[in-house]
Amino acid sequence: MGNDITWHEHSVSRGEREKLNGHRGCVIWLTGFSASGKSTIANLVDRKLYERAARSYMLDGDNVRYGLNAGPDILEKMHGKEFSARFGLGFSADDREENIRRIGAVAKLFCEAGIITLTAFISPYRRDRDRVRATLDGNDFIEIFVDTPIEICEQRDPKGLYKKVRAGQIKGFTGIDDPYEAPLKPELRLDGAAKSADALAEEVVAYLEKVGVIPAQA
Ligand code: ADX
Repeated sequence: MGNDITWHEHSVSRGEREKLNGHRGCVIWLTGFSASGKSTIANLVDRKLYERAARSYMLDGDNVRYGLNAGPDILEKMHGKEFSARFGLGFSADDREENIRRIGAVAKLFCEAGIITLTAFISPYRRDRDRVRATLDGNDFIEIFVDTPIEICEQRDPKGLYKKVRAGQIKGFTGIDDPYEAPLKPELRLDGAAKSADALAEEVVAYLEKVGVIPAQA
């Protein structure tokens, strides 16, 4: 099974879509600890791009885990215990790997649709991120390390998760008792300790201009 499928060329090419949009498609892959600022920065970039009439969209870790990559609790409520046991994604290394694989595949589709695709997932394993990179053309994958030290993330704790971890209510939390492998050669590193989310979003937009994803502003 699985070999009897054929790849169909789209009648509207990626290049045509990009011409219509006035910019390139790409995948902007933000990685970093929980509460490092990934979603906040991605949202700000999304807004700034919208204001420049660029077509962008953000895939966010927490949100995607309600649907496409729903966790066991959500799936059990929707489709029952057996379904949830088969398909629910948690936070084991295997589940995180599959989470990232699916997001990578979805992001690639968005990219081919000519969209500036922002993803905000912890994506703690270098191998999983590199695997996504390998599925895309050279210039299409822009890895951004949101470099906010774990101590600062824990202080921020917007969802109260670090508190729960310290209280022993969550096990295997990235940066506390689960690994995080920082990118070795990200296209961009954002200093989440020193600068505001807005300043960091500006850095991302400036980078997109520099590498020609979006045209420079007149
Ligand atoms: S990833 O590791 O598979 O990339 P993802 O970005 O989808 O993670 O989800 C991370 C979010 O899930 C965190 O921001 C946090 O809100 C929540 N979360 C729940 N349990 C964990 C855990 N054990 N480790 C990290 N994040 C967790």
